[in-house]
Amino acid sequence: IADVEECIDHELVSAEQIDTIIRQAAARVSDDYRDKDPLLVAVLKGAVNTLAAFSQAMSIPAQMDFMSLSSYGAGVTSSGTVTVRQDLSVDVRGRHILIVEDIVDSGRTLAWLVEELKSRGAASVEVFALLSKPSRREVDVNVKYSGYEIPDEFVVGFGLDYDERFRNLDSIAVLKPSVYQGEQA
Ligand code: PRP
Ligand code: MN
Ligand code: MG
Repeated sequence: IADVEECIDHELVSAEQIDTIIRQAAARVSDDYRDKDPLLVAVLKGAVNTLAAFSQAMSIPAQMDFMSLSSYGAGVTSSGTVTVRQDLSVDVRGRHILIVEDIVDSGRTLAWLVEELKSRGAASVEVFALLSKPSRREVDVNVKYSGYEIPDEFVVGFGLDYDERFRNLDSIAVLKPSVYQGEQA
């Protein structure tokens, strides 16, 4: 197994850029939700790193919960179907929810989750997504707090995986093609 750094072709979003994006959004959210007792809903597994950094950058108390959803499986393209791997542990009725996501690609995961939380009786549902690939959008989804727009390249790091690996990278990067071909990078 090669070191993570050896598998990277190039970096797309640095750790410093990620930090800036998250701090700006967290400041806005802290203002907007001051009297709303927000519930942060992170979409596992990809949103873990974003949720940790985002919540720590907020200046108001926030509750957190997790929902594990999958649209990708092991491949590099979205399957188009959202599977619930693990549900929330709290009742969202009457709650002001901020969904925290690592990336909006086709939009299917978020579109599904926003509707699901509304149908469960949430008072409001908004979204923070660290990354977005606008060119890949198939479903319209309103991302109120959006971070960095990236081109249509398969990226890993800061929660994003290729076949469950590379989530532990502290920046967003493009892998060397040899990694996909199953060779040692
Ligand atoms: C990825 C990513 C988003 C979703 C975006 O999750 O973390 O949740 O896909 O794609 P979409 O806009 O086309 O729905 P994935 O399904 O790979 O699960 P993971 O978070 O556990 O990696
Ligand atoms: Mn995900
Ligand atoms: Mg994934």
